[in-house]
Amino acid sequence: MVDQVETLYLIASFLFILGLRGLTAAHTARRGLILAELGMVFAIWGTVIHPDIMAHLEIAGFFQTYKWILLTFFIGSAIGIAISALIPMTRMPERIALSHAFGGLAAALVGVSEYYREQVIAGHMDHTTMGAIGFEVLFGGLTFTGSLMAFGKLSGLIPGRNITWPLQNQSNILMFGGTFVLLIAVTIDPSNQILFYAMAAMPLLLGILFVAPIGGADMPVVITLLNSYAGLAASATGFALDNNVLIIAGAIDGASGFILSVVMSKAMNRSFRNVLFGAFGKVDEEDEAMVAAGGERVQEASVGDAAMLLSGAGSVIVCPGYGMAVAQAQHVVGELAEILEANGTQVRYAIHPVAGRMPGHMNVLLAEAKIPYTSLMELEEINEDFKHTDVALVVGANDVVNPAAKHNPASSIYGMPVLNADLARSCIVLKRSMRPGFAGIENELFFAPNTVLTFGDAKDTLTKVVEALS
Ligand code: TAP
Repeated sequence: MVDQVETLYLIASFLFILGLRGLTAAHTARRGLILAELGMVFAIWGTVIHPDIMAHLEIAGFFQTYKWILLTFFIGSAIGIAISALIPMTRMPERIALSHAFGGLAAALVGVSEYYREQVIAGHMDHTTMGAIGFEVLFGGLTFTGSLMAFGKLSGLIPGRNITWPLQNQSNILMFGGTFVLLIAVTIDPSNQILFYAMAAMPLLLGILFVAPIGGADMPVVITLLNSYAGLAASATGFALDNNVLIIAGAIDGASGFILSVVMSKAMNRSFRNVLFGAFGKVDEEDEAMVAAGGERVQEASVGDAAMLLSGAGSVIVCPGYGMAVAQAQHVVGELAEILEANGTQVRYAIHPVAGRMPGHMNVLLAEAKIPYTSLMELEEINEDFKHTDVALVVGANDVVNPAAKHNPASSIYGMPVLNADLARSCIVLKRSMRPGFAGIENELFFAPNTVLTFGDAKDTLTKVVEALS
């Protein structure tokens, strides 16, 4: 039976790795997801026929053995299906934060119950298992409350701005250090229950205190970092339970979450230190001026003006952003491209690595609208072409096309690579108001002499443009 379980775990681990490999390209992503799901089926299969459970099955029968497993399986599946069905694509970061919170909570609870079973009831726990359980409870608890904070901030349940207090970084680091000292102490003396429960409670507070000072704009980076903590917690669970699939899957999760956080920080030209301790990302929703700080005014364009500019263009680069996701304008973007291409216009899409609210957000939406992958260009591939392009069509993007990032050292996004929409001969910006983007700052592009703004929901505006052109 042990061999059978290990074989199933090995197949599951192999499928997880293949799944992750599939997720590296848009055209293989669906296959990757299916492989990873299949991996999970094998992992669950291996778990429910574990020798400990089978021994119980022989004594207690099917119902007594599996009743809790089946109940929690159905509750978990119902929550999972409801979350996937009810939360829209635009709220994906919140959905992911919630999933990580559940993952962290599960790891922490497994750790506490293992401690209870082995130390409190059976009265013997070796130091290595205690260390692994302590690690699991620490990172599980931190991930649980940290992810709930991230969820609350992103969904507006708690203020998205950075909540700061004097000496916050110093006190947070001190508390983290203190928790680690407790972890070491309880590893040396597993029988000290007060130390254990104090060590289990501290990370719950730490998760809140660590995420509170981080602004909404940085939340996706925080979520991927918490993802990596959840992976570490799962891996520690694997050591504590002597479960190979948890060790492997946790390590994959931990490493991939960490790499993703680094990639995202790089795309925003921010250091990890700056994201976690820099209190960036304050959103100033009140900044709605039609006049720039320097006195320049925006130029408004009607739907008809925008349609005319587009119909006369030989080349168009679409710059999609978070607003395209909010408006669900991807399909009508595709329709517009078809009309323009039929008219002989070259249409391409400039994909900024952090456009939207999650990695690959724009790729997923445009793939959904059946826009060929070959028309999607990465920032480095297309940025030099803007200066030879007739129209840059900015669909709900803001920070990722803000030229201040290129030349204004005082700007909070200075140094972040941005799309050169300002260098196109003309630029049409589709947005609803003069509200800023996620970084909460004014966008120079909107006040440039070659830029016009067509106000309104991007989907409505583009639908009218398509009608005007056809
Ligand atoms: P943002 O800078 O957030 O700008 C979005 C724009 O869309 C806003 O100007 C908004 O203006 C407009 N908008 C919203 N709803 C709209 C609708 N229905 N129709 C038309 N326009 C609409 O988006 P971005 O340019 O994609 O930049 C992404 C930001 O998120 C960056 O600051 C990036 O650093 C941050 N971020 C992203 C990620 C990932 S992985 N993608 C991770 C961390 C942080 P109105 O409200 O006036 O319409």
